[in-house]
Amino acid sequence: MSSYENYDRSAHAYDQTRVPAGLEIVTGCLSQSPVPLAQQSLLDAGCGTANYSHALIDIVRRITAVDANATMLARARSKFSAQQQNRVEFHQSVIERLPFNSQQFDGIMINQVLHHLDEDPQSGYPTTCAVLAECARVLKPDGVIVINICSHEQLAQGFWYGELIPDQVSRMQQRHVPLAVLERLLERSGFAYGGRIVPLDALMQGEEYFNARGPLDAVWRSGDSIWSTVPARQMQKIKQRLTELDQTGELDRFVQRCDLARAGVGQMTFVHARRK
Ligand SMILES: C[S@@+](CC[C@H](N)C(=O)[O-])C[C@H]1O[C@@H](n2cnc3c(N)ncnc32)[C@H](O)[C@@H]1O
Repeated sequence: MSSYENYDRSAHAYDQTRVPAGLEIVTGCLSQSPVPLAQQSLLDAGCGTANYSHALIDIVRRITAVDANATMLARARSKFSAQQQNRVEFHQSVIERLPFNSQQFDGIMINQVLHHLDEDPQSGYPTTCAVLAECARVLKPDGVIVINICSHEQLAQGFWYGELIPDQVSRMQQRHVPLAVLERLLERSGFAYGGRIVPLDALMQGEEYFNARGPLDAVWRSGDSIWSTVPARQMQKIKQRLTELDQTGELDRFVQRCDLARAGVGQMTFVHARRK
């Protein structure tokens, strides 16, 4: 279960803005496995509504999609055609305890999930360690894991609306395991760290990201769980500020100014590693 977002509430709106951003990086990393992509059995750990799995189902042999949230899984299931259903299976489970045999998968992807874990950074990220240990257990030797995660810099500079919610951005940074730490944890969990890839132009919400009036709309806000951490009173003030900017004709310029740094840092990083 996400430790802060209510996905039962936001599941219906999630797909209206979220896209499988950086998909070509995921396939590029998975292609480094000794098993050709088309023959791979892939685990989507924390699949959500299966945006990534749905985009990959006709490219790999088989996908096993796992998520803790039943409502997200129900939406995930509904996306696949009858033909595709034969090659995809869904499990409701936390990813720190995977209900699978050892050495079952050729590849694993974890897209934007680790910051939802109930984590204790002071004690060395035990939940992330448990997830990585489980991934190491179920992955075949030389299989590839791809982890899609935001760096602290990307959280601070990769989203124009961070300017509106600076306290939430810094709390979100605390939720994200620093990439240097993640790399060490991967090595300690039985992986050979492969590298980081940043698709500078990939947008988590696709073109909807540029919607300057987006934060006024609850459906749009469901596309980034950071908004679920903004209290109602603060949200009122944000709406008022955006409405005033809109009325004075300054809103689009405001968004452009707040979005300037993104071109240099991107919104997400793909960390990849190989099972030793
Ligand atoms: C931001 S969504 C990402 C969904 C999908 N991977 C994507 O990129 O579109 C985070 C997902 O992680 C799931 N999740 C959070 N903690 C989890 C856990 N411990 N085990 C399994 N799933 C978890 C949530 O239910 C949610 O569907």
